[in-house]
Amino acid sequence: QKPLKLGIAGLGTVGGGVVRVLQTNAQSITHKAGRPIEIVAISARSKAKNRGIDLSNIQWYDNALDLVSNPDIDVIVELIGGANGIAYDLVCAALRANKGVITANKALIALHGDELAKLAEEKNVPLLFEAAVAGGIPVIKTIKEALTPDRLKRIGGILNGTCNYILTAMAKTGCDFNDILKETQELGYAEADPSTDIDGFDAAHKLAILASLGFGHTIHFEDVFVEGIRGINPDDLHYAQELGYTIKLIGVAQQHADNRIELRVHPALLPCETPLARVNGVTNAVFTEGEFSGRLMLEGAGAGEGPTSTAVSADIIDIARGSNIPMWGTDWKELTPATVVSRNEF
Ligand code: NDP
Ligand code: HSE
Repeated sequence: QKPLKLGIAGLGTVGGGVVRVLQTNAQSITHKAGRPIEIVAISARSKAKNRGIDLSNIQWYDNALDLVSNPDIDVIVELIGGANGIAYDLVCAALRANKGVITANKALIALHGDELAKLAEEKNVPLLFEAAVAGGIPVIKTIKEALTPDRLKRIGGILNGTCNYILTAMAKTGCDFNDILKETQELGYAEADPSTDIDGFDAAHKLAILASLGFGHTIHFEDVFVEGIRGINPDDLHYAQELGYTIKLIGVAQQHADNRIELRVHPALLPCETPLARVNGVTNAVFTEGEFSGRLMLEGAGAGEGPTSTAVSADIIDIARGSNIPMWGTDWKELTPATVVSRNEF
């Protein structure tokens, strides 16, 4: 069988993890994908860095954009990060060159998803991003595949592992915010600029993607009301606990009966006995509520090497198998007339 040939850009927490998953489980992945998956080329900033993975026999590029001109590569896996700059340039160039793209980059998809989806559809190449929302939770597949027949009314949950880890640790130990943030960075959970996490923007990126997919409507990230967790201290969590509550950073997207869409990310007091209140540490939880499907909640690791690289690798296997599920499909998007309104109107 002809192998699927990959070029991987970015070899950090997620990129390194993807190489590890593909190499460790090569035999079973080949069997499940129906053909071998071969990493033919890679790119990162530092060639000299010891990444604890076997990169011998893989071509190295100093400039990630050069991956696109390698005619052997079928799919570019973008794991650098950032909404603009090199990640955006690489993904656009790859799609224009008729290569499939897989990314874990929520900022990129939240800000440029429409444009990239159109380009992918024009070129008839796949653009997949399972790992971009809630790390190891297969929520994109759930919405695009299992819930396709339904119209979703409400989507949300705990969408940022770093914030949930910080809030959980502050509640348990009363430790200092900055010390715990440092721990999340060491564990590979936080974004390159951790203010993206703690100021709520990462959760807002994910909410915008979920709402776009779930409501079939173009959702602009800028329309999401965003408030982060910077202002929360161990005393707030302690007093909340005394009253039978906990504090979580939540994201909610709701389509109201008059088709107005509400989008918000902010810390919320949740009664301790509710399911979301019991989601702790780096764990995320995503809920959906549909007209026919009713309520559903998925829970799992929201960040970290293993879960995130499993999600990226699942996209790789999907492409190897030849699955042809549109990114969010301009064919059905905008079928639902809707107006996105600011939080103040609710
Ligand atoms: P890291 O910072 O760990 O890794 C980034 C990688 O990109 C590094 O290997 C770095 O090289 C490389 N890089 C940076 N600039 C360039 C460049 N100009 N050209 C080529 N390579 C470059 O990030 P993560 O792995 O944590 O995140 C990657 C993506 O995955 C982001 O979009 C993030 O939002 C997303 N994501 C991350 C999750 C996580 O748990 N960490 C979970 C879900 C999604 P070098 O190593 O040499 O410095
Ligand atoms: N920084 C993100 C988080 C990574 O903590 O949730 C996963 O998207």
